[in-house]
Amino acid sequence: MVASLAHLLVAASLANVALSTPFTSPVDPINLFRRASSGCSTTGAASCHNTTRETDLCCFESPGGLLLQTQFWDTDPSTGPSNSWTIHGLWPDNCDGTFSENCDPSRDYTDIAGLLTDAGSTETLAFMQEFWVDINGENEQFWEHEWSTHGTCYSTLEPSCLPAGSPKGTEAVDFFNTVVKLFQTLPTFTWLENQGITPTTSKTFTLSELTDALQAESGVIPTFDCDGSTVDQISWYFNLKGSVVDGVFEMIDAPEKGSCPSSGIKYPPKSGRPTATSVTAPTSSPTSSPDGSLPAKATIEAMRSTGTVTGGLLSAGTWSTQTLATYTLSGSVDSFTMTSSKGACGVSGGEFACGSGVSSTTFSAVSSGGNLLLASGGSTSFGSNAVPSGEVQETVFTGSGHADSFTLMIIAS
Ligand SMILES: *[C@@H]1O[C@H](CO)[C@@H](O)[C@H](O)[C@H]1NC(C)=O
Repeated sequence: MVASLAHLLVAASLANVALSTPFTSPVDPINLFRRASSGCSTTGAASCHNTTRETDLCCFESPGGLLLQTQFWDTDPSTGPSNSWTIHGLWPDNCDGTFSENCDPSRDYTDIAGLLTDAGSTETLAFMQEFWVDINGENEQFWEHEWSTHGTCYSTLEPSCLPAGSPKGTEAVDFFNTVVKLFQTLPTFTWLENQGITPTTSKTFTLSELTDALQAESGVIPTFDCDGSTVDQISWYFNLKGSVVDGVFEMIDAPEKGSCPSSGIKYPPKSGRPTATSVTAPTSSPTSSPDGSLPAKATIEAMRSTGTVTGGLLSAGTWSTQTLATYTLSGSVDSFTMTSSKGACGVSGGEFACGSGVSSTTFSAVSSGGNLLLASGGSTSFGSNAVPSGEVQETVFTGSGHADSFTLMIIAS
């Protein structure tokens, strides 16, 4: 029961985010609602579960139909936020656990950051810079390695599967977008924390304590790898329906054990700073509005330039990490007004506020990277003088001329 529920949730949220894979360009309004789409059905057999020979390998991952989303817990030296595991990769194992690597050296792309930027996947890139980080700081080389070693082995990411005229490297952009979105559905740190397991130097864990905790949260059993007795990697296993571009990833129990011992496992703290929020990104919210239409009621979340979401707007229009206000939106995406329980919302002198004394101004919304972003005067840039925490509320200003800049995502409620 638990397994099937978790399975459904991940499938639903990924199906949702996959639909909204960004292919947008801020300078090309016609492209604003275009998204990467494989055109593949997601109702057929899952990879490794076909009973007859599948012929369209653009829509059926084969032979690498056993997918592993691997995550690092690097403490020596510490890598990435102290309250999150980081991305290692997404690997296509064969159904029997063997695997291929380096499948097409002609597609060993360089400048992954440039590819993502040119494709408009800047939010993915920003997220990778925080959560897909190399232990020696060589992020670009690490991304190139993960693409060339593993990414080139996906049948559903063959260039011949792409729409005619796709720019070179489009399938790698799809790969990175998918890995980031899949990782965002797998908050290992938070799941362990929810079950009372947090990094510590004062005790050790048994393997079943770790796997039971994650099974309770996710519904499935992952694999843990250790360096000696210190856990440093987890693998989450999937079969895939459809294409890596926009298919449904079905979580499954790990078919094998990792390298950790059965007891005495160390899960030491990282020395870095925590990330501002959990890794669960708004794009995986089942209530976001991927079709770009304007919801009548919404909360408004702040996505910082790092790609992380930190709180959002309270009823006075201030930025906070407290419980967010529900806004009422009237009009269309091109032109609407907003009210909160405090009153009308408007921008005056570059300052955003809502209240009985505020005169209403008109806003618009821009669909970007699967999110609907609030815009004032056509600009989606907002900022504050500091990042709020606890009870603190920060005034929200329009434009990017403030210490901390962010976009405001309209999340249907
Ligand atoms: C599933 O499809 C793949 C790809 O065509 C094929 O290699 C494999 O043998 C099929 N499995 C079964 C049980 O038919």
